[in-house]
Order: sequence, then structure tokens, then C-alpha cells
Amino acid sequence: MSNPPTKGRFVAFEGGEGTGKSTQAQLLAAALRDRGQTVEISREPGGTSGAEAIRKLLLHPPGKGWNAQSEALLFAAARADHVARLIRPALANGAWLICDRFVDSSRAYQGGAGGLGDDAIQALHEFGSHGLRPDCTILLEVDEARLTQRLAERDGGASDAIGGRGADYHRAVAKSFRSLADANPDDFRIVDGTGSPEDVHARVLESLSHLVTSA
Ligand code: TYD
Repeated sequence: MSNPPTKGRFVAFEGGEGTGKSTQAQLLAAALRDRGQTVEISREPGGTSGAEAIRKLLLHPPGKGWNAQSEALLFAAARADHVARLIRPALANGAWLICDRFVDSSRAYQGGAGGLGDDAIQALHEFGSHGLRPDCTILLEVDEARLTQRLAERDGGASDAIGGRGADYHRAVAKSFRSLADANPDDFRIVDGTGSPEDVHARVLESLSHLVTSA
């Protein structure tokens, strides 16, 4: 028998490209729905029509592309719209909100790998989204060799303006995610993303037991 639906919770999946975030978001949503919860899934950049329009500008930029500051501002602007128009209302209605990427992507990509630093990203997030944090951020980790293989199979070498950056950039992103998670164990759960989607899903559920059982 399913538990009765109660309070909304916010879970974000984070990690580099090809770590399985979208698949795990879908599997988690299905598992929660089976338990009687109302669940919404979203993604960043995107989630609302305004933020999806900004997504296009970020992933397929016109002209010479954005400098580091413009890029961070665009991510923060997309997030502010997403938070105000979709995330906060869903949580206020008692839904679970599962998001494929959130502010920790900006911290790892723009703040860490992009060199802007964490304070700048946190300040933008404070201004744009009143500093909203997920109840839990799941960092999916997969080693570089496996990721390269997965991405070649998934995208056939095609990528967007950010995914297409060099191996050093993506290595810096992975390192940055890891230091954020290590420094904030209350906010993050690190989950091994290798193995079948079902294996990883079981680890995800276990890592969320503090939220799922009390839901
Ligand atoms: P997407 O195709 O959604 O990600 P994935 O390849 O993981 O499926 O593309 C989003 C890209 O935007 C991805 O390269 C990560 C990047 N990104 C940032 O640089 N900063 C951010 O704040 C967010 C949300 C994404």
C-alpha cells in the first residue's frame, strides 16, 4: 500500500554529461509516484518557456558566444524564472520536484571550471532565486573513460557549446562537483553512477532514505 501524499521535497541530480541524471530522475519520479506522491520533473537550464528560450541562447549561442560573466548571468536568469514560476509553486502545493541539474551545476561549471569562483555564483543565486537549495542534491559520478564511451554512443560526437568544451574543462567540472559535495555532506549524496540504470536507481533510493521514508 502506498503512503499518503504529504509534504513536497526538492531533489536535484548533478554530475557531468552522460552520468545518467535524466534516466535517474525518471526512475526516481516513477518510484515516488508508486508510493502515492505527486511528482514533477524539470531540468536546467530550462523548465519554463522563458528559461527554455535562454537555454537555446546558452547551448547554441549566436555570434562569438558569451563571456564567462554573461554565461553565468544567463544561467542565473533562467534559474530565477524557473524557481519563481515552477519550482516554488510545485513545492508549495506539496509536490516532489525532481530537477535534472540546478545551482550546483553553475557552481561547478561557471564557478569552478569557468573560474568565476563560488562567491560570485552564490551571490547571483541569492539575488535571482533567494538562494533556494534542494533538500538533497545527488551527485552521480562515473569515471572519465566510461563517460567518454557513453557520450560517443549517446551523442555520436555531437555536442553543444558547453558539452563540447575540452577534456580539461570537464575534468575541472568533475573535480569541482566533488569538492562541493565533500565540503557539504548535509546537502549532497554522492552516488556511484556505474552499472545498470536499475542498480544506480537502488543506490539513489538508498541515499534518499532520509527523505523518502519520512515523506
Ligand atoms: P544538457 O544537455 O541539459 O546536459 P547533459 O549533457 O548533462 O544532459 O546541457 C546542459 C549543459 O549546460 C551542460 O553542458 C551543463 C551546462 N550547465 C552549466 O554550465 N551551468 C548550469 O548552471 C547548468 C544548469 C548547466
